[in-house]
Amino acid sequence: MRILSIETSCDETAVSLLEISGPLEKPEIKILGNTLLSQAKLHEEFGGVYPNLAKREHQKNLPPLLAKTLKQAGESNDNPDIDLIAVTSGPGLEPALWTGITFAEELSKKWSKPIIPINHMEGHVFSVLYGSAKPLKLPGLALLVSGGHTELVHIKDFDNYEIIGRTLDDAVGEAYDKVARMLGFSYPGGPKISTLADKNRMSRLAPGFKFPRPMINSLDLNFSYSGLKTAVLYKLKAENRTDDLFKEEVARAFEDAAIEVLIAKTRKALDTLLEIKTLIVAGGVSANTFLSSELKKLTEEFPQIELLIPDKLLTTDNAVMIGIAGYIQAKLHPEKLSPAARGEASNKIVAKGNLFISSPQ
Ligand code: KG4
Ligand code: ZN
Repeated sequence: MRILSIETSCDETAVSLLEISGPLEKPEIKILGNTLLSQAKLHEEFGGVYPNLAKREHQKNLPPLLAKTLKQAGESNDNPDIDLIAVTSGPGLEPALWTGITFAEELSKKWSKPIIPINHMEGHVFSVLYGSAKPLKLPGLALLVSGGHTELVHIKDFDNYEIIGRTLDDAVGEAYDKVARMLGFSYPGGPKISTLADKNRMSRLAPGFKFPRPMINSLDLNFSYSGLKTAVLYKLKAENRTDDLFKEEVARAFEDAAIEVLIAKTRKALDTLLEIKTLIVAGGVSANTFLSSELKKLTEEFPQIELLIPDKLLTTDNAVMIGIAGYIQAKLHPEKLSPAARGEASNKIVAKGNLFISSPQ
């Protein structure tokens, strides 16, 4: 099955053309064309993603990215050999989502191909199918960690899942970005904080101060990152230091706290849901080296559970993951490919809004 996929939920415009075949547990995924443009630099001055700027950039970038993707795949712009169009329909920034949805609808009408709307987080979850050597065993538990989400999801089957824990305020990636901004680093600052924390961990003993681990002992599986961010702010105000060593120590103490809570809640979920066979960790923060090493240690406590983290290429937002989720939907619901489903997506697609702008601190 050949799938053209489009992702515009946040600040990445991405288009890909995939050829996918085989069972859902272990599909064969060929990337025929794949393009992506990040707007992160443009949003830097806002300290987060500014929805209307994102919308304008998506509108500008989609046509050239489509042309480039089709060219990479050796396909024509007029009548490419595809079976369906998969487009992110939420959650995300509403103006940004609608740009991708409208673009997909125009293509659907022009080429007379069906559109399947895709949940962005489902895309992150199933991004682990790309390049995986072994079949995916379900039920699974997914820890979704990005700039907009911090969720624990019980994946009962390919099309049946339940959110069993979520952040009550900031997402963990958002906390990384805000702490980075307080330390004078540009958006998105997660990778910078991670590098500083790793450097400190390699060369020094733990800093002489600690930050709180919000909700670590709560009985539920929810998270809260806003208090941790505020604790960092108070520390910076109290110390009034800007030297490199202090920044490294703050980064490490923040990361130790942020990740300890992720691990503790994931352990609690695995202790509760006894039948879990796979732990999937996805979203931008899954690129974090300390998180992956702590997760490896955690899964050693649960020998029956396999840990799956997406290929580095697919950790942040991309269109390949949307295409993979599109394949799953098309296989599970062949009626979505029927002629009746063509060219009339707008009344079926609901852009689920989750408007967030990281506010400058
Ligand atoms: O999934 P993603 O690309 O976009 C959203 O849907 O949010 O995630 C982006 C988030 C940003 O907050 C970024 O700072 C964070 O992922 N991030 C990291 C790392 N790489 C990206 N956070 C911590 N450590 C990293 N290595
Ligand atoms: Zn994402």
